[in-house]
Amino acid sequence: MAHKSKILIIGGTGYIGKYIVEESAKSGHPTFALVRENTASNPEKSKLIESFKSSGVTLLNGDIYRHESLVRAVKQVDVVISAVGIQQIADQVNIIAAIKEAGNVKRFLPSEFGSAMDRAKAVDPIKHHLGVKASIRRSIEAQGIPYTYLLSNGFAGYFLPNFGIARTGGTGRFTAPPRDKVEIIGDGNTKVIFSKEEDIATYTIKAVDDPRTLNKVLHIRPPANILSFNEIVSLWEKKIGKTLEKTYLLEDQLLKKIQESPSPLNLRLSIKHATFVKGNLTNSEVKTSFGVEASELYPEVKYSTADEYLDHEILTIGGTGYIGKYIVEESAKAGHPTFALVRENTASNPEKSKLIESFKSTGVTLLHGDIYHHESLVKTIMQVDVVISTLGCWITRTDSCSSLPARESRAEPRKSLSNPRDWTFHSRTSRQI
Ligand SMILES: NC(=O)c1ccc[n+]([C@@H]2O[C@H](COP(=O)([O-])OP(=O)(O)OC[C@H]3O[C@@H](n4cnc5c(N)ncnc54)[C@H](OP(=O)(O)O)[C@@H]3O)[C@@H](O)[C@H]2O)c1
Repeated sequence: MAHKSKILIIGGTGYIGKYIVEESAKSGHPTFALVRENTASNPEKSKLIESFKSSGVTLLNGDIYRHESLVRAVKQVDVVISAVGIQQIADQVNIIAAIKEAGNVKRFLPSEFGSAMDRAKAVDPIKHHLGVKASIRRSIEAQGIPYTYLLSNGFAGYFLPNFGIARTGGTGRFTAPPRDKVEIIGDGNTKVIFSKEEDIATYTIKAVDDPRTLNKVLHIRPPANILSFNEIVSLWEKKIGKTLEKTYLLEDQLLKKIQESPSPLNLRLSIKHATFVKGNLTNSEVKTSFGVEASELYPEVKYSTADEYLDHEILTIGGTGYIGKYIVEESAKAGHPTFALVRENTASNPEKSKLIESFKSTGVTLLHGDIYHHESLVKTIMQVDVVISTLGCWITRTDSCSSLPARESRAEPRKSLSNPRDWTFHSRTSRQI
């Protein structure tokens, strides 16, 4: 078996970091996550931390502002990946200092996860942050630390679930694309790139031991995901069988909005300007002298396309039952992102373990929950577009489901059964199978 480097992720409890930690552990790398003391005891993060532990991740207590803790962590690994948030980018000089002192690191991937750095075309505040990311590169090179710079381009979860409309939750997965009106940034013709976070993590982890990415920039530009805003909207329109009303936020209006908006809204708007108006994700070539493209380098990775991403996500409640298992299997086979609600006892029931294993092997995501546990139910349902209930005939009451809070953006389509795509929550009440 090929040598698997030991990997430390700093910022592994963050939005993109958690995918990197999970992928590193899944790919068999001895995986370490630097976790701050307060975070380890933060109830909001406790589930994530527990899931890290159960995947065999070693948690190391530390903080980028505590030099000794960093050096101690860095000394235990071969590769350091930073996924710290935008506010800590400049302070990655502390990580560089720790790597230099430890002297054992074979590769450092600083927190970039962005686009090629054409600062000339961006405006503040993102222009400033791009400058800071560039200065971190120069510090790494000045210290002679081996590196890979990862340009992931856009995170799908930040745009595709809602076309950039303000998110109601923290993860970006809690709203659906609009079904009536859409505001297009710019003229909508600029090409952009959005990749699924899991794929970004896959490419990142593949790169760490790859000599072809050593001291190179790794661009993630899967060809099927290079689309314009207009093309993305048109993919969605085909799926819902409806034409959206379009308005356009043109550059001068957007620039005015950036100037007038408080932080951090102005940052988000300046990113939209760089992405959708100036074409920062696509307006430069991958320079072969120091750049490589991930989907070319790793053709074996079957990345998710934006088209697939917009497919409905289906949750089956009762999927481990007689008819439910066929529904789950068919949903996965048809290419839908497929979820099955599984009770804790069922997950550990030896009689059901084969079925559960087969779900997993077909890419079904198992979500723990119970219809008598309202919170777990809300949490799982929030992750999907369509719910199919195949609860046994002795469970006829579906009050637990129907007491769910309506999500504005999805409330309307549920009223219609004209299109099978819209059979969303009707399935939980009138469409018991
Ligand atoms: N391309 C895109 O679409 C896109 C979108 C968003 C972000 N990004 C980029 O992705 C990168 C990561 O951003 P993100 O939004 O994923 O970050 P995030 O969710 O804000 O997470 C930041 C992480 O850094 C950790 N951290 C903060 N202060 C720390 C400290 N003093 N010591 C150690 N760890 C500390 C946090 O730990 P705690 O859990 O303890 O707080 C958390 O794990 C950034 O470079 C950002 O610019 C790209």
